[in-house]
Amino acid sequence: MSKFYITTPIYYPSAGMHIGHTYCTVATDAIARYKRLQGCDVMFLTGTDEHGQKIEDKAKAAGVTPKEFVDRIVEGERGVKDLWKLMNVSNDRFIRTTDDYHVAAIQKIFKKMYDKGDIYKGKYVGKYCKPCESFWTESQLVDGRCPDCGGPVYDAEEEAYFFRLSKYASRVQALLETGTFLEPASRVNEMINNFIKPGLEDLCVSRTSFTWGVPVDFDPGHVVYVWVDALFNYTTALGFMNDRYNDYEKYWPADVHIVGKEIVRFHSIIWPAMLMSMELPLPKKVYGHGWLVFNGEKMSKSKGNVVDPYLLVDRYGVDALRFFLLREFSFGQDGNFSNELLISRINSDLANVLGNLVSRTAAMVGKYFDGKLPENQEEGEFDGELIDAASALRAAYEKEMDRFALQNGLSEIFKVLNRANKYIDETAPWTLAKNEENKPRLARVLYNLAETLRICAGLLSPFMPGTGAEILRRLGDPASDWDSLGKWGLLPADASFEAGAPLFARIDVEKELAALDALLPKKPEEPKEEKTERPEPLPKIDFDAFMSVELRCAKVVAAEPVPKAKKLLKLTVDLGYEQRTVVSGIAKYYKPDDLVGKKLALVSNLKPAVLCGVESDGMILAAGEDPIRVVFLDDAVPLGERIR
Ligand code: MSP
Repeated sequence: MSKFYITTPIYYPSAGMHIGHTYCTVATDAIARYKRLQGCDVMFLTGTDEHGQKIEDKAKAAGVTPKEFVDRIVEGERGVKDLWKLMNVSNDRFIRTTDDYHVAAIQKIFKKMYDKGDIYKGKYVGKYCKPCESFWTESQLVDGRCPDCGGPVYDAEEEAYFFRLSKYASRVQALLETGTFLEPASRVNEMINNFIKPGLEDLCVSRTSFTWGVPVDFDPGHVVYVWVDALFNYTTALGFMNDRYNDYEKYWPADVHIVGKEIVRFHSIIWPAMLMSMELPLPKKVYGHGWLVFNGEKMSKSKGNVVDPYLLVDRYGVDALRFFLLREFSFGQDGNFSNELLISRINSDLANVLGNLVSRTAAMVGKYFDGKLPENQEEGEFDGELIDAASALRAAYEKEMDRFALQNGLSEIFKVLNRANKYIDETAPWTLAKNEENKPRLARVLYNLAETLRICAGLLSPFMPGTGAEILRRLGDPASDWDSLGKWGLLPADASFEAGAPLFARIDVEKELAALDALLPKKPEEPKEEKTERPEPLPKIDFDAFMSVELRCAKVVAAEPVPKAKKLLKLTVDLGYEQRTVVSGIAKYYKPDDLVGKKLALVSNLKPAVLCGVESDGMILAAGEDPIRVVFLDDAVPLGERIR
């Protein structure tokens, strides 16, 4: 039996997993299920990437340890594992980079590359993007900002270990130029032109500015760069350099790493170079899929445009959502998500074509033959075309699926389903039913429809596991293994077809859009044109009077309501050199979560005052009376910095 090892990127545990994350994993799941259907021995790996400064910062802001923070998001309600369960993801293994066996293996891997001379100690001077955990040179920045996420970068200087990426540049280029390692082909030029040709610089692979990472065991104070830690998950999860699993020999090298386009660089340049250094076989393929965007912008919590998979599954069911994601968008390219598209796709393909064909056929088998076809059947006009289309389906589908053209794989199935619906119009079974003599012909027409549905349901099941299985169940669980799906006529002649509830209901587009609009998170309102009346000015003060007010940058590390004081929130703010409690009358306008992690301006030399039993040591700056708006500071302002 041939082996097939497929992976998704391991996710940063962040509270707002959205439809974009779901897209990548559901697509990988469809491929894994397809390979299983073909009879392969599949290993499908996913997991979570839990180290790094970003996690350390978020945990601190939430007032918990990093491990508590990631545990909650990975294992907790509506966490990463929950989401994959909801989406019916069939991963065989789940790795957490905080798992002991992985941590110990990473230490050995790092040491091995160090002993070989491919990792050396140096000093890093350059720019750093916190959210991407990436170092950049001045020339790599785009308009002075991070080329990956477009966010601000900061000056960074620290002693660090480097990986000799430059040493492997020509081998990596040759690998990319094979044309089979990285797909779709458009991504190859991007990698060569943007990263290899300008010159690959050695990669900074350790950090000393934070501690939440795999410690470099031979040099305390350094932690392994999160991407080195993360990439090797693909091997440690199989048991490489650890005893937890014993599948490395069996499954490595991976058949394909499915990754989003923004992390193709890590997977197609840095990852093979490190494997070359470790003298390990290289993965056979990296496939860089496009992004799901919302009105042209990548989804992100800060833009307020994330789409919640829980909400969509609740309204339409998991299979409809899986189907939509993989049918609507071309996997290698970006796709623009919209509710209209989702609803129209459900109506046009699932309710009108698939659902309708299943219910019409089953209803006719029920009405004319009491749910079970007679063996006495008669071939006739139009049969040939339908039989040819259904018999050729598996091969056409396989061709598309083998190159991960998932959208086309589905479209092949729908061509046949449409053909079957047309066959109903052509053969007009209701007319045949009027005459007892035509019963054998009628039986054959319904058999052909049911047999077409057997093949289509089997091939649909990697995309819609529940629906595929349900159609097959209603057909009496006929043969549906890979071999049988390539053959016509395997449904027994006296097959039964159970009528059941409609598989997909038609949705009223306008009503549904209005309902969704009320439910989905709103985009932040466009700022209105601001017109302000001139206020009554206060008397002028001199500079010294202003300077006597000590304003400093502070970060909110915890926030909670003050019992029995509806208007008040109790904030714990961090000035870098000390923490304070401040009470503020903003409870009507902000929830604690809106504030934690944000930087603001604190009047730090205001005399303490007791408000509703809580001592407030300072005051935060805010504007307005109703609503009150807190004056937030740019994240780049250092804690404790004087504001003047
Ligand atoms: N932790 C790294 C991966 C390490 S793999 C060794 C990471 N994690 S992530 O959580 O930020 O992203 C995981 C995957 O989700 C990526 O492939 C990313 O491209 C994908 N997506 C996140 N948002 C997406 C969309 N809006 N659309 C499509 N995929 C998107 O990167």
